[in-house]
Amino acid sequence: MKISGSIALVTGANRGIGRQFAQLLLERGSAKVYATARNPESIDIPGVERLRLDITDPASIAAAAAATTDVDLLVNNAGVLTGANLVTGDLDQIRLEMDTHFYGTLGMIRAYAPLLAANGGGAIVNVLSALSWFSYDGANAYSAAKAAEWSLTNGARLELAKQNTLVTGVHLGSADTDMSAAYQGSKVDPADVVRAALDGVEAGRLEVVVDEWSAGVKASLARDPFEFYRASLAS
Ligand SMILES: NC(=O)c1ccc[n+]([C@@H]2O[C@H](COP(=O)([O-])OP(=O)(O)OC[C@H]3O[C@@H](n4cnc5c(N)ncnc54)[C@H](OP(=O)(O)O)[C@@H]3O)[C@@H](O)[C@H]2O)c1
Repeated sequence: MKISGSIALVTGANRGIGRQFAQLLLERGSAKVYATARNPESIDIPGVERLRLDITDPASIAAAAAATTDVDLLVNNAGVLTGANLVTGDLDQIRLEMDTHFYGTLGMIRAYAPLLAANGGGAIVNVLSALSWFSYDGANAYSAAKAAEWSLTNGARLELAKQNTLVTGVHLGSADTDMSAAYQGSKVDPADVVRAALDGVEAGRLEVVVDEWSAGVKASLARDPFEFYRASLAS
């Protein structure tokens, strides 16, 4: 999959990592970039095609797909972090996390799979997280939703291989966006996330692990979970 000449669609392109995707896709030579958002007037990137899209609304997905039949690179970036926990958290918030990360991304993949097939296969990028691989008290609904989205990524990849669609999962720890504003630790530049993701797509990679923290979390899955959660369980 070459970025140059691609026709890309990015969800949540008005800010954060999605805005960087739209911008860098243009810089790397995409022939057209559909920058989508719930409020397209909030998209301020010159040269993109602005489009309204709420990934939790099936009618909105259908309308977007009907208007963008030429897409061959779909970037599922839109996401929310409610801060809800699972056992006592607000169920509506937990459902919003699942509706966005899992069902929203699933809806996009189902709508765009036939278009990608018609356009030669193309690629799908799903923006996942290190939190697909671990839980964190205070963001457990997000972790569950990102884990579901990771599994969706793996399953869709198998199902779409026959139509020659690359499905790339991108995992990162913390990036410097509104979503992580309250987090005090180190954060990667959203532009570096996008560079790694687009390099991964061009290299045909199934998975892009952006930072050392995410790589360490992934490695921990092969060990006894007590090692990873020791400090959290003690507090
Ligand atoms: N920042 C991090 O530390 C971090 C770490 C790991 C993974 N991620 C993932 O990276 C992706 C981008 O996050 P970000 O850091 O750029 O967050 P952000 O700055 O908070 O931006 C989130 C974007 O998603 C959009 N969005 C939310 N719900 C939507 C919906 N139903 N339909 C369409 N768009 C919707 C938002 O649109 P509005 O402006 O309309 O709200 C916004 O454009 C997410 O999938 C997130 O889970 C982020």
